[in-house]
Amino acid sequence: MNPASSHLGETVPAKTARTPTASAPTASAPTVRATTVAGRQTVLGLETSCDETAAAVVRLDAGGRAEVLASVVASQTAAHAPYGGVVPEIAARAHVESIDAIAAQAMAQAGLAYADLTGIAATAGPGLVGGVMVGLAFGKAAALARGLPLIAVNHLEGHAVSARLGADLPYPFLLLLVSGGHCQLLEVEGVGACRRLGSTIDDAAGEAFDKIAKTLGLPYPGGPALEALAEGGDAERFQLPRMLLGRKDCDFSFSGLKTAAARLAEGLRDAADRRDLAASVQAAIARQLAERSDRAMAAYATAREGRDLRFVVAGGVAANRMVRARLQATAAARGFSFTAPPLAYCTDNAAMIALAGAERLALGQSHPLDAPARPRWPLDEAAALASPTHAPGRKGAKA
Ligand code: KG4
Ligand code: ZN
Repeated sequence: MNPASSHLGETVPAKTARTPTASAPTASAPTVRATTVAGRQTVLGLETSCDETAAAVVRLDAGGRAEVLASVVASQTAAHAPYGGVVPEIAARAHVESIDAIAAQAMAQAGLAYADLTGIAATAGPGLVGGVMVGLAFGKAAALARGLPLIAVNHLEGHAVSARLGADLPYPFLLLLVSGGHCQLLEVEGVGACRRLGSTIDDAAGEAFDKIAKTLGLPYPGGPALEALAEGGDAERFQLPRMLLGRKDCDFSFSGLKTAAARLAEGLRDAADRRDLAASVQAAIARQLAERSDRAMAAYATAREGRDLRFVVAGGVAANRMVRARLQATAAARGFSFTAPPLAYCTDNAAMIALAGAERLALGQSHPLDAPARPRWPLDEAAALASPTHAPGRKGAKA
């Protein structure tokens, strides 16, 4: 079935759903207000920005260490698989149907009542706005009913703090955020304090994995399927273009790689050939991520005079073993420590949203109940506005 002609409306290639159309309205940032909550935080987090309905309870102690008391993720993969990508309308409806039960399950797993919470955090964007509205509305209603502060969390900020869920990782650190909709290098000073060093000028890394996987006939979601196919393949077999070689910045580009891989995939029938192409593609993506991260590490180390040399990779693509291994080796060569979230917290989850909310709450921040759902919401807004290369294109800003 041609997804574009479906009565269900437009489909979005797997996980590229987080890149809304250029005409989507941009709401203003939710205003942060001071709250009186301090010390230990226990926060229910809600995540509904793409195709996972997730709820989690995270406790943050006064020293800033996080403990996940519960984390429930209901994936909609099966519902979207026949269309080869996320169908926004199906996603929003599925969130509506399950958010109640998923939140209740997380609270039960944590063994807590709402009275034990100090706040409720919900993803407020960026993402598919129909889904974002479901989790945010649920969070607002629960916060109002229970008299708890609401924290409207940027999904990317959730990914940015996610490595702190599994490790004692202090701020500041250099972050490579690689997901289905985003690919950027950021200096992270703390929650709400990120400075972007580079970003993709076209596709995100996860988007490249997904689209190339599709041309190889692999099922959605493509990233893990391509990694599985690449197992044992010859990564040297196919020469793929190296993008932005003439540039000395920390930006990424994957569209040329995608086109070249699609052409090569067309003629391949043999299983071994397809395996080699998958391995070559995976290696090419990992190489670009490592090269740009290496450049960012060099600049970061100079700016910090050799202090705080911590490198973190987060987001769905951080689940890829070759990507992790290349980045780990790069970090070691530059004298950086290396941290990646546990696999469950690489892809979308609510524990990272709860943690971002808890950290903001600990700083005395929360949001009013009219906080808007934002289809687009760059982490480093100043950089996104200043850089014309990252202006919204046909598929919207890659924030
Ligand atoms: O962070 P995430 O769950 O959602 C977004 O915020 O976008 O990332 C999903 C992306 C998808 O593009 C998926 O194919 C990719 O992460 N991904 C992987 C792997 N696991 C997930 N890519 C390559 N290898 C993997 N093992
Ligand atoms: Zn994500």
